[in-house]
Amino acid sequence: MNITKVKDYEEMSFRAAEYLLKKIVKLKKPVIGLATGSTPEGMYKYLIEKKEEISFKNVTTFNLDEYVGLSKDDQNSYHFYMNDKLFNHIDIKKENTHLPNGAAKDLKQECRDYEDAIREAGFIDVQILGIGVNGHIGFNDPETPFTSRTHVVDLDESTRKANVRFFQSIEEVPRQAITMGIETIMESKEILLLISGKEKAHSLARLIEGPVDEKFPASILHKHAHVEIIADEAALSGVGKYLH
Ligand code: F6R
Repeated sequence: MNITKVKDYEEMSFRAAEYLLKKIVKLKKPVIGLATGSTPEGMYKYLIEKKEEISFKNVTTFNLDEYVGLSKDDQNSYHFYMNDKLFNHIDIKKENTHLPNGAAKDLKQECRDYEDAIREAGFIDVQILGIGVNGHIGFNDPETPFTSRTHVVDLDESTRKANVRFFQSIEEVPRQAITMGIETIMESKEILLLISGKEKAHSLARLIEGPVDEKFPASILHKHAHVEIIADEAALSGVGKYLH
């Protein structure tokens, strides 16, 4: 894992956007894995700022996850988030953007179709990841098997609480989601993990200094050949203090 230390959230976002843009320019048909949440928002802003210089017409995207039971135009769905924060502002072809359909009638089939679509696209060139305070990647909470593929998950109470800030109340936070599995994520050719803020300091220390086990899903990243981490000073402030 290669770690780049940056000053703050702004610099993390800028560096991440630069990293992605370089890939987009270099690859003929880039396949980019995207995340939602607070972490990548700044990166999306920087990508939009470059829209006059860089075309996204050849880019295909796959998002990590989507809530079950929310329609694509529900303001809390990740479909809505991605359109609002990125896709509506760049020249990407909407038919090349993919998120799991959390409103699908047959959710298991939807998961299989999602896996097939990633494979047919030639797998993901760069997967953007954020990390949950409990170490989740995608919606793969602790104890998710490292061998998991795209699947339906019952969300951890801690994950629902962490995301309540986007909803009116905890009752509104969906109880299930579809997420790429850990093995699916690990098949990406490169992974770019972004971490900012002191509330993630313990998680980053655990990631760097702790063991690889399913209690902390992100620890699997140690087994990937090409992981870039961009972390700010606050997120790195716990390194060296992790208690085994
Ligand atoms: C989002 C996702 C999650 C988030 C994680 C961190 O698509 O898969 O794993 O990356 O929950 O969320 P934030 O960035 O809001 O702290």
